[in-house]
Amino acid sequence: MDAIPIPRTLAAALASARRVVALTGAGVSAESGVPTFRDAQTGLWARFDPRELATPAAFERHPGLVWNWYAERREALGRVSPNPGHYALADIERRVPAFLLATQNVDGLHGRAGSRAMVELHGNLARTRCSREGRIVSRWDAPRDGEPPRCPHCSAFLRPDVVWFEEMLPADALARAEEEARRADLMIVAGTSAEVYPAAALPRYAKGAGAVLVEVNPHETPLSRFADHVLRAPSGVALPGLVSSAWPVGGGAK
Ligand code: OAD
Repeated sequence: MDAIPIPRTLAAALASARRVVALTGAGVSAESGVPTFRDAQTGLWARFDPRELATPAAFERHPGLVWNWYAERREALGRVSPNPGHYALADIERRVPAFLLATQNVDGLHGRAGSRAMVELHGNLARTRCSREGRIVSRWDAPRDGEPPRCPHCSAFLRPDVVWFEEMLPADALARAEEEARRADLMIVAGTSAEVYPAAALPRYAKGAGAVLVEVNPHETPLSRFADHVLRAPSGVALPGLVSSAWPVGGGAK
C-alpha cells in the first residue's frame, strides 16, 4: 500500500506534543505475519475457542494442550521480525519528550524494534513462569509426554507468562499506563479492536483528560467515533507516514 495522507493538524499535534502514549494490539504485528485474534477467518479466535486455551480453567483441564498451543506460538515468533509500524513507534519514543508504549501484544516485537519505555499489559510469550508461585523460570527438564514441564523449585506445572481471560493484568503495568494516559497530550491507538478491558479504557481516559486521540486501524472499532483522527490503513504504512509528516526529513530527533 502506498503512503497515506496525514492531516496537517495531526502532524503538527504530534510534532509539538510533550507527552505521548501509544496503545497497540495484535494488528500492529499482522504485517510481521503474527495472526490477530478477532479478524474474521485469519484471527486466532476464529479458529480456536479462547475458553479452551486462554483461561485458568482450560489450563487446569488440559494443561498439556494449553502449554503446547503457546509453545507453538512461541516457536513461530522465532521466524518473524518487527515491521515498519514497530520501528515507527520506537522512532516516536526517541523524538518526543515523554513517551509510553502500552502494548497488549505478547510477541516481544516492540522490544526487538527498539521500544524501551513500554509496558506489556498482557505479559510476554517468551517468558515462562511457575503456575503456583509465579516465579519466572528459564530452564526446565523435558516434560513427560502430554504434560507441561515442571517448575524446578516446586514441581508445579510451568505456564506462559501471559494474561489469560479472567486473570488480572500486572498491576504496576496497568497503573503506569493509566497514569500516563491521563497525562498524555496525544494518544495513538494502533491495531487493536478496542474490545478487551481494561486496556480498551485507556484511550477514554486520555480523551477525557483532553488528549488528541489518533486511531490507526484499517477497520472501524468502538473507539473510532471518539477519535480526533482516524488513519484507515495498516499500521506498517500509517505509522511511518505519521513520523515522516510530523518530522519531515531535515528535522532531527531530540
Ligand atoms: P484483535 O484481534 O481483537 O484486533 C486486531 C485489530 O487489528 C482489529 O481491529 C483489526 O482491524 C486490526 N488490524 C488488522 N490488521 C492490521 C494492520 N495491518 N494494521 C493495523 N491494524 C490492523 O487484537 P487485540 O485488540 O490485540 O488477549 O486483542 C486484545 C486482546 O484480546 C489480546 O491481547 C488477547 C486477545 O484475546 C489475551 O489473550 C488476554
